[in-house]
Amino acid sequence: MNIMVDEKAKVFHLQTKNTSYIMKVAKDRYLAHVYWGKKIKTPDMENAQINSWVSFGAAPDSRDKSYSLDYIRQEYPTGCQTDYRMPALEALFADGSRAVELIYDSYRITAGKPKLKGLPATYVEDDAEADTLEITLVDALKKMRVVLMYTAYHELDVITRSVRIVNESADRIVLEKAFSMSLDFETSKYDLIQLPGAWGRERHMERTSLRSGLQSIQSRRGASSHQMNPFFVLADRDANEEYGNVYGFNLVYSGNFHGGAEVDQLFQTRAFLGINDYDFSWLLESGESFQTPEAVMVYSAHGLGEMSRTYHKLYRTRLVRGKYRDAVRPILANNWEGTYFDFNEEKILGLAKEAAELGIELMVLDDGWFGKRNDDTSSLGDWYVNKEKLPEGISGLAKKVREYGIRFGLWFEPEMVSPDSDLYREHPDWCIHIPGRERTECRNQLTLDLSREEVCNYIIKTVSDILDEAEISYVKWDMNRHMTELGSAGLPPERQKEMPHRYMLGLYRVMEEIVSSHPDVLFESCSGGGGRFDPGMLYYMPQTWTSDDTDAVERLYIQYGTSLAYPISAMGSHVSAVPNHQANRVTSLKMRGDVAMSGNFGYELDLMKFTEEEKEQVKAQIAQYKDLRTFIQSGDMYRLENPFEGNTAAWEFVSEDGNDIFAAYFRILCEVNPGISRMKFQALDPEAQYEVVGEGKVYSGDELMEVGILVDFWGDFQSRTWRLKKR
Ligand code: DGJ
Repeated sequence: MNIMVDEKAKVFHLQTKNTSYIMKVAKDRYLAHVYWGKKIKTPDMENAQINSWVSFGAAPDSRDKSYSLDYIRQEYPTGCQTDYRMPALEALFADGSRAVELIYDSYRITAGKPKLKGLPATYVEDDAEADTLEITLVDALKKMRVVLMYTAYHELDVITRSVRIVNESADRIVLEKAFSMSLDFETSKYDLIQLPGAWGRERHMERTSLRSGLQSIQSRRGASSHQMNPFFVLADRDANEEYGNVYGFNLVYSGNFHGGAEVDQLFQTRAFLGINDYDFSWLLESGESFQTPEAVMVYSAHGLGEMSRTYHKLYRTRLVRGKYRDAVRPILANNWEGTYFDFNEEKILGLAKEAAELGIELMVLDDGWFGKRNDDTSSLGDWYVNKEKLPEGISGLAKKVREYGIRFGLWFEPEMVSPDSDLYREHPDWCIHIPGRERTECRNQLTLDLSREEVCNYIIKTVSDILDEAEISYVKWDMNRHMTELGSAGLPPERQKEMPHRYMLGLYRVMEEIVSSHPDVLFESCSGGGGRFDPGMLYYMPQTWTSDDTDAVERLYIQYGTSLAYPISAMGSHVSAVPNHQANRVTSLKMRGDVAMSGNFGYELDLMKFTEEEKEQVKAQIAQYKDLRTFIQSGDMYRLENPFEGNTAAWEFVSEDGNDIFAAYFRILCEVNPGISRMKFQALDPEAQYEVVGEGKVYSGDELMEVGILVDFWGDFQSRTWRLKKR
């Protein structure tokens, strides 16, 4: 058991391999946060100090003013009482009152990790991998029970949190906010690192020092979004890739979220994360309960690199599920940037034949194969094949593609409907809308209302029918707009604000049913690129299209930022044509290959346009990736040069056994007389010898790490790679 309880002092101590997380019941009432950081073997639990004093703090016990909720460090603060900081829970009771007072009630420890009903979450395969502590807090007046669930993994420095709220009263309770986690740090001497962006510019890394007051990250778009990822880090101000205390927070959720930090009057920092309370409320009838999504928290005493490797390993092995969790991912060719909507069977078969000859393993047919969709103005929802383009249907096409010895994949956008579609004409109320208000279109489409069971059932049936009929090995699941005019024809007025979360529950059910009944299909999620790159989606679909921006330089930033939380095996990354369609930039085929190879590799262009010379280069890239992919996709990543801090990016992938290494170094713009650049490797065995494959040179591990290899760049957009083998 890695959860210790001091019954007398009422202290809870969760341990992972290298960390401790300690809480205490203060004044026999309040669940307070004591410590999270490096492992403390035998803490003096009784003396843990969590109280302080400042004037203007309302203390429930007038004889002891040091226990105001306004300044004690808490685990799950509530609203409308004596804590003026950011609450994690807010409720409206039948009498109109809003104050919630949660008092410690009891605890329970179990081996393993329970599932969260209807929600994605990290898991264990064996109960011995983790222990779970449930702490129950109760509002006795309002008969509301709040169960805080903490799981501590043994071998990974991960603590997950989620909350279940139960209405034990005879009346209704409306939840107005229910975060997944909140905890108070003693100091504010941290930097906040976040991953903001836009379409085509996802997950750029921003770092600022905390200041007094609230600094938050959020999405109100009905999706986790391009604009902000549900992930943030609090890091020591001098923390870097290898050094310093860092605390990561990530929400396993694909919809609206709210997270961040609030620095209070005593320079303490409250970190919080959960479903966004904007456009959220949840009516709990008597006896009903509400389960929040899971927050995944990672502490590293050795900087951002170690934190990321912990997230990567957890997500690769205990979030992603199914056959492709452990299988190497196929190299794919996608026709989107090669043809857009302008294709027919002959064209796709031509691409597939070429793909097979080059060594590619999967041909993916993107948007435009259904209804009468020749541009983005129609047919979403009409998931029947366009026989003018594909006379033998999807099954005929898939069969022919497979005859070339490669597999076939297909694009869907199941959550959407075009106003110009048979589905919309038949069911105009199946989209998210408010009666009487204009239905704002985005990319000429509306969002289907997945808070409704019948809509979800329709999606499950139509997608499953196609997957059952044709030999489809891969699905790209796209989603190309955010929600507006929030309303559901399936919900009564008092439940309208439940729609965004009910949508997510519906989406998760749809994905669960489709994915579990098609275990051999590899699913890749997408939302106009990486607009829903979150752990919630990864639970169902092991990879995500990282960005619609396929420019090699732009991708350095996007993939670097994404790697802060998400594993390489999750990042779809393709070589595309030049000039690049998003950035109009021309980069070499080598650099495009080297960047794409630092992810889940593929090609997204008209393969027929390659010159003979390019074809040879592409064949070599494909052979190279086949040699590297096992450990690129499942090894450890070390970030070596940060493009957000300069003109270079570099990273390294190391196999689990340490025998295979691949490193890539990129210079963005040419600098004349820039000084010396060296590739300094990390995580090698200083005593061992390493061969640079292809060059025949042998270096010692200590030389590669301490002296490095001199890198000579000339010109813009340059890349160098090294494949090392331990001797
Ligand atoms: C957006 C995706 O990100 C693209 O890759 C492509 O699939 C288009 N949608 C198709 O409409």
